[in-house]
Amino acid sequence: MKYNITPVDTIHGSVVCPPDKSISHRALLFNALAGGKSQIHNLLQSADVLSTAQCLRQLGVKITASSTGIWNIDSTQGFTPSALPLNCGNSGTTMRILCGILSTFPFESILIGDESLSNRPMSRLIKPLSEMGVHISGRQNKFAPITIRGHQSLPFFEYHLPIASAQVKTALMLVGLRCNGAFVSGGGRSRDHTERILTSMGAQLETQDGDVRIFPGKLINSDITIPGDFSSAAFLLTAATLASPQGVTVRNVNLNPTRTGFLQVLKEMGANIQINTTNQVCGEPVGDISVFQSHLHGVDVPPELVPTMIDEVPLIAVLGAVASGKTRVRGAEELRVKESDRISAILHNISLLGICFDEYSDGFAIHGSQSIGGSRKLSSFGDHRIAMATSIAASFGSSPSTIDNTTCIDVSFPGFHQKVSNLGLKLQQVT
Ligand code: S3P
Repeated sequence: MKYNITPVDTIHGSVVCPPDKSISHRALLFNALAGGKSQIHNLLQSADVLSTAQCLRQLGVKITASSTGIWNIDSTQGFTPSALPLNCGNSGTTMRILCGILSTFPFESILIGDESLSNRPMSRLIKPLSEMGVHISGRQNKFAPITIRGHQSLPFFEYHLPIASAQVKTALMLVGLRCNGAFVSGGGRSRDHTERILTSMGAQLETQDGDVRIFPGKLINSDITIPGDFSSAAFLLTAATLASPQGVTVRNVNLNPTRTGFLQVLKEMGANIQINTTNQVCGEPVGDISVFQSHLHGVDVPPELVPTMIDEVPLIAVLGAVASGKTRVRGAEELRVKESDRISAILHNISLLGICFDEYSDGFAIHGSQSIGGSRKLSSFGDHRIAMATSIAASFGSSPSTIDNTTCIDVSFPGFHQKVSNLGLKLQQVT
């Protein structure tokens, strides 16, 4: 599938935010570990989350979706070894959190993924887990396929994360919870959904500035409603900032401060934003965000904000192009090992759209006050967020564009085409 993109002048409207991907994974995984029955409402039915559900089914957990959209999880039989490798597809969250979970089960599991996932760094888990005594190995001891044979009783451990990764933090917290406790530091401002959900499921933990001490314990099943995904909303908010004098409202968005650094940057760039926090869903603040077309100016994104906007950084490159003055992002080297090298991928695409920039190993500087052009050679690089960020940019170009391989958008945002079409974007799907 590809998109033929016809530029538009303005967009407007109101859409409901799709469910949060990070929380959907966790709702499935943590309830599967709790050993009872639970229901999940508003689960994101994207390719990544379906990979998690399928891996759990292979491990003996019963997961069914009802016709009313409620997902039932029954893990009363516990986990059993999977006869076949567990295919995590494109999902780093599935693979990394499962590495932690499976380290606490005394049987062998093999984790595999697609080509992108098979080239993403896994030594960040292989190293600490093997130091604890887990039999875990990977291709070149760095990559999937990963083979794990765990232990039910790993010792208490202290570990300082070399990178602020919520996936690694979560995996190690689950080992501590199921074995003899753990102190995981260095999480910084990475997303804290795990801390929030585990607490609501009865886990005992103490947190300070991103450091977590977790005590051994059992989880209690909990029915969970998934709030909207700020990272998905960010594509719509960017489009609104570029071209919506009447405004776009995205409803039911998770406003957890460990996720919304992008809003802070947007505001600092001069965007006209109204936020109406309405309620709490799954222990997370949720609300509606309205954004109106604004004259933007370039900013230096503080590196310490990067973990709170890690998935939104490609959008900063798009916004920086039309802002007056330079926009710089540094301290974002982690982007080089996401589903694609996102620094190189987004810069490649915006250069095809006529935008000038400087590239750094850990970020970029976008020269401001530029007009976006068009290109028939845009590529998603097989990466859902690059596909969406580029489609938004090209929608406000001076001539039509085409972007290849947009099927990957289903990894996180299956309803993207419908939602942006409702707002007025013109993306023609071509198979
Ligand atoms: C995620 C954490 C982030 C993010 C990813 C989802 C999670 O990755 O980029 O899309 O659900 O924990 P890192 O934890 O590796 O930074």
